[in-house]
Amino acid sequence: MIVKAVILAGGKGKRMKSELPKVLSTICGDTLIRHVAANIREAGIGDIAAVTGYKSELVRGNAGDELEYFLQEEQLGTAHALNCARSFFENENCAVIVLCGDAPLVSGETIRELVSFFEDNEADICVLSAVLPDPAGYGRIIRDTNGNFERIVEKRDATPQQILISEVNSGTIIFRSAALTAALDEIMSHKPQNAQGEYYLTDTIEITAARGGKVFAFCAKDPNVVMGANDRYELSLCERAMRESINKRLMLDGVRIIDPASTYIDRHVQIGEGTVIYPGTIIQGTTTIGRNNTLYSSRIEDSEIGDANLIDSSVIESSRIGDENNVGPFAHLRKDTVLTTGTKVGSFSETKASVIGKGTKVPHLTYVGDAQVGERVNFGCGSVTANYDGNKKHPTVIKDDAFIGCNVNLIAPITVGSSSYIAAGSSVSRDVPDGTLVIERSKRLEHKAKIIKK
Ligand code: UD1
Ligand code: CA
Repeated sequence: MIVKAVILAGGKGKRMKSELPKVLSTICGDTLIRHVAANIREAGIGDIAAVTGYKSELVRGNAGDELEYFLQEEQLGTAHALNCARSFFENENCAVIVLCGDAPLVSGETIRELVSFFEDNEADICVLSAVLPDPAGYGRIIRDTNGNFERIVEKRDATPQQILISEVNSGTIIFRSAALTAALDEIMSHKPQNAQGEYYLTDTIEITAARGGKVFAFCAKDPNVVMGANDRYELSLCERAMRESINKRLMLDGVRIIDPASTYIDRHVQIGEGTVIYPGTIIQGTTTIGRNNTLYSSRIEDSEIGDANLIDSSVIESSRIGDENNVGPFAHLRKDTVLTTGTKVGSFSETKASVIGKGTKVPHLTYVGDAQVGERVNFGCGSVTANYDGNKKHPTVIKDDAFIGCNVNLIAPITVGSSSYIAAGSSVSRDVPDGTLVIERSKRLEHKAKIIKK
């Protein structure tokens, strides 16, 4: 049977106390709604719709045009939301899996297990449930004395006895489309009679069971799947749970993480076997990292790192690093830095939009910006490419085997020839030919010093 998915994302999420719709809150490098969509795709389901309402355009812009959208103008409850997407599934003989846009931990694997259970049992409805030590505000799963699933009662509508039930509705529910359409018709046909005055999607269970339909609650192995982010505290709990699962997956794939609790890696980051990550490291965005690197307390964002690099206490943004480079401690690689192979960018050096050739060293207190640097170049301490004239940025070209002395200013645009040698303290304002020694300092003046006695 074809499976289609609907993400409910119409609410504002008042408890988040944010201008943004709740589903645009970010954890582990992506928004909640994008995590939910990625989970669905990981389960092999490509036909996905979302119901949006509060700041709809913003939500759609973020989740992207791979989803189909339906508008819920007023937020009248979860059944009302799904009813807005009716044309997505009615008159089709398919299964519809409904997920909450604020529940990012329902993994692809869990979705696949739920779909299999639904199909194997030829069910009409199957709710993903979980048993929680503290069932808090979730809907309670009501079973009869034989353990058969009967209905869901929202906490606010529950009797004191029902409140004690620890099996809860995760909010992820799969339906046979015909059963869903019929149950929605009934729910929407009269005013809701519950504590919140909302059209509840959870009422589909009782309605379908009463008509002789087959309803099941499938209990997830991992109770985290129900975790929703309703406020910023819960958001941090969801983020911690997702972080733990990212770190675990990487460790099982052969990445050594010394202290997972203090290592922050975004969901879409890839890291190769044998790489060792020390505490305090933050790896963000679309970063990919190869094998056998050693990373100490660094932040790496949207970058591509090869193999066998050592990166210590540094910040690397939108850059590309090849193999066997040595970065830090305390280096800042800004946007579009390229380190080729065997380079060194050391203490308090900053690079931007520059290519650093094989074996070149930028060891300390140096700024290299808008520069093409050849192989085996050495930058002395405190050397600077003066790339900005206050109006425009200008390029610097440094050819192979050049030696840049300490405290040299290279005033761009400028080309330094290969195997040339620039004396310490020079401010070089014109091109340097190959194989040339340049000293460009002001002439030394000497005067007799007046000796003042105190
Ligand atoms: C819902 C379930 C509850 C379950 C819990 C799991 C119902 C009645 N209750 O409660 O049994 O334990 O999820 O997290 O279904 N939404 C809309 N339009 C609306 C209302 C909600 O799109 O009119 C969306 C929200 O944006 C959210 C999702 O539906 O992404 C769930 O809504 P929420 O209000 O958070 O439901 P809960 O009270 O948590
Ligand atoms: Ca919720």
